[in-house]
Amino acid sequence: MMLSEQNHLNELLDQVKEFEKEHSVTYSSRHFKDPISKFKLPEKSMPANAAYQLVHDELNMDGNPSLNLASFVTTWMEPEAQQLISENLHKNFIDHDEYPQTEIIHRRCINMIANLFNSPKECNSIGAATIGSSEAIMLGLLAHKWMWKKRSQKGAVPNLIFGSEVHVCWEKFARYFDVEMRMIPIEKGSYTVKVEKIEKLVDENTICVGAILGTTYSGHSDPIKEINDLLVQIKKEKGWDIPLHIDAASGGFVMPFTHPKFEWDFRLEQVKSINVSGHKYGLVYPGIGWILWRDKKDFPEELIFKVNYLGGWMPTYTLNFSCNGAFVIAQYYNFLRLGHKGYAHIMNNCIANASALGLKLANSGKFDIINNGQMLPIVTAKLKDEIKGYSVYDLSSKLRERGWIVPAYTMPPNAESMTILRFVIRENISLDMVEILFQDIIKACTFFENKDSLPDRISKKNHPPIC
Ligand SMILES: Cc1ncc(COP(=O)(O)O)c(C=O)c1O
Repeated sequence: MMLSEQNHLNELLDQVKEFEKEHSVTYSSRHFKDPISKFKLPEKSMPANAAYQLVHDELNMDGNPSLNLASFVTTWMEPEAQQLISENLHKNFIDHDEYPQTEIIHRRCINMIANLFNSPKECNSIGAATIGSSEAIMLGLLAHKWMWKKRSQKGAVPNLIFGSEVHVCWEKFARYFDVEMRMIPIEKGSYTVKVEKIEKLVDENTICVGAILGTTYSGHSDPIKEINDLLVQIKKEKGWDIPLHIDAASGGFVMPFTHPKFEWDFRLEQVKSINVSGHKYGLVYPGIGWILWRDKKDFPEELIFKVNYLGGWMPTYTLNFSCNGAFVIAQYYNFLRLGHKGYAHIMNNCIANASALGLKLANSGKFDIINNGQMLPIVTAKLKDEIKGYSVYDLSSKLRERGWIVPAYTMPPNAESMTILRFVIRENISLDMVEILFQDIIKACTFFENKDSLPDRISKKNHPPIC
């Protein structure tokens, strides 16, 4: 390329870069004569309807939440719930003195959840609302670190044991709060942590063992009862009272309704704390999570701060301070509205639809099923080894053309060689939608299988729509 041509191209690129910094003048031109900066606070104000339209239109580029099977997070609530949310969006949850009734509702929710998780009668269970399970896990584990501090020898180093199939927030905790992470790799063909491996790693400085009810990667559950039994045995034999924290982010609002006899919660002696996401199968919009402790005595008093700058002395135990009260209220609405039977009905439907998808994928002959969705409504599958020429990543991006958001990813250490698709079936994914999704998956497979025999005019870059 001649130098002058190159200069011209550079000039054009600079112009494009400048142009990209601003919302185009032609865009929403009824409202705007001048460009609007995207990255600097605009000099002038604009009418509310103009700002609304501009932001609203841009957000059309987001995916469709209803077709998002990547997320566990609630994408639909009833109009009455939405009304309560918008009526209460302006209440700061932390201002208990100003909004005492919201705080009373918060405590009722904690009572209901403690009850659901079989808090023993002789225990005084306590808990708190959080932004989600990540904050709840940090708070739960911090409490265990402080309890360990009280019983540890000077200079001892705390450690935390969990499997590599945990959500990233567990690793974050270890790094942010300076606790040695003893992460147990999972193996290909078995997707949860092994009890024998925990046994080898536990010592008197283990602040806690973590177990998952519904892993992020595959949707399986760790062998919670077996881990509890191991810790009970260690307590008897060595005198180390090591707590078990259950990460029930996704399973906590499913299992009590669908498999009430399955023991994973405070029925087990060493389970001292549990987190659950209200915004997942608690069926509330993001962000709401919950942390519960089996008993007040499992919680270090030192972590409660009392502040008076909101009027009245107020105890706080959260990582953040201000947050919305509306989602606590929405959780309470769901509890009252649905009751035990309502949640059971919805969760059983989700499981039936997930199981139907699992069965269809298995019968297609193209997939090995890792999780068939019969325990929690999460289906995970890999392409059979004999299928060559396309990958789960290809399928994921082909499905996106139809609006489906289905993540493809590698499993955690030591099963990284395996790439899978995950389908989280939520309340809004009907059996009809499952059938359409399945047909789209098969069409996508057929497309890749026949790609080389397509006529030349259909280039590889220009895929036809799959339906
Ligand atoms: C098992 C597990 N733990 C924790 C989290 C984090 O939850 P949140 O998004 O509510 O912070 C997730 C999120 O998917 C999860 O699957």
